[in-house]
Amino acid sequence: MNLSGKRVFLTGGARGIGRGISEALLSKGAMVMFCDINPGTGKQTEEELQKQYSSDSVSFIKADVADSQQLKAAFEAAVTKFGAVDIHINNAGILDQRIWERMFAVNAIGTIRGCQIALEHMRRDKGGHGGVIMNVVSMGGLGSSYWFPAYTASKHAVIGFVNSWAESPYQPQHGVRWGCVCPVSVDTEMLNMEENQIYDLSENQKHTATHKVQISDVVDAFMKLVQDENSNGALMEVSRENNGVYCRRQLVYMNNVSPPCFMDNLPFPGQT
Ligand SMILES: NC(=O)c1ccc[n+]([C@@H]2O[C@H](COP(=O)([O-])OP(=O)(O)OC[C@H]3O[C@@H](n4cnc5c(N)ncnc54)[C@H](O)[C@@H]3O)[C@@H](O)[C@H]2O)c1
Repeated sequence: MNLSGKRVFLTGGARGIGRGISEALLSKGAMVMFCDINPGTGKQTEEELQKQYSSDSVSFIKADVADSQQLKAAFEAAVTKFGAVDIHINNAGILDQRIWERMFAVNAIGTIRGCQIALEHMRRDKGGHGGVIMNVVSMGGLGSSYWFPAYTASKHAVIGFVNSWAESPYQPQHGVRWGCVCPVSVDTEMLNMEENQIYDLSENQKHTATHKVQISDVVDAFMKLVQDENSNGALMEVSRENNGVYCRRQLVYMNNVSPPCFMDNLPFPGQT
């Protein structure tokens, strides 16, 4: 997929992985509008990126993805500015077991709503131009973790939702391609956690120290996935061992319509 001129809406782009993805897309000639709940960092990032690229190609809008009206208004602002959105990226997320219901509202409901808004806009059978919906999920969404059960569940919810749409027999008529990037721990502000934010923080920090990847690793994997027009419903692992490798490229269809197909013969995390 040629990214030049593509019109992108991304959530949670003020910093971290979202900012990294925006920069990579801009460097390929795409135009990006990003939303974030944090107006200070959002504005600052907007200014920095506009200096590096152009004021026409990147802009920030404040929105909380857990608020349906704010998210819809932000997406509509991108449609108004660009004429349409070709690539929608759900990236905004939080990790805090103490506020697990809020975490669900952001990670699961905010992402699912983002998918629904983008799908309605893009689907060809309803007058749209087709497009791509990408999601920054987590390896947690592929397995389990006693450190953060509700976070893990919120990411499973996204994968279940995304792959259900991706495997629809009407997907070709929708003309919308789906994908999920699933990183292990990534060296971002998200890892600066307080006691009780997750269970057994000190053990988690020991594990993270030896397993974490960098934002650039996630960005590289994302860029590979977003440009791969042959992928739909693919889950891409981002880890030190298997960076940018499809851990599941083809959907596992229900009712044995199609047998499971594991790309690269990779086991799921935790399996031997
Ligand atoms: N850092 C990791 O270890 C890690 C690992 C796997 C997956 N992820 C996922 O990657 C994504 C990005 O995380 P990150 O590591 O860059 O974290 P980050 O905290 O650095 O960045 C997240 C951004 O999302 C914004 N945000 C938070 N809640 C929001 C809301 N309700 N509405 C709009 N914006 C909101 C924040 O203000 C921030 O700018 C998240 O979905 C996260 O779950 C992160």
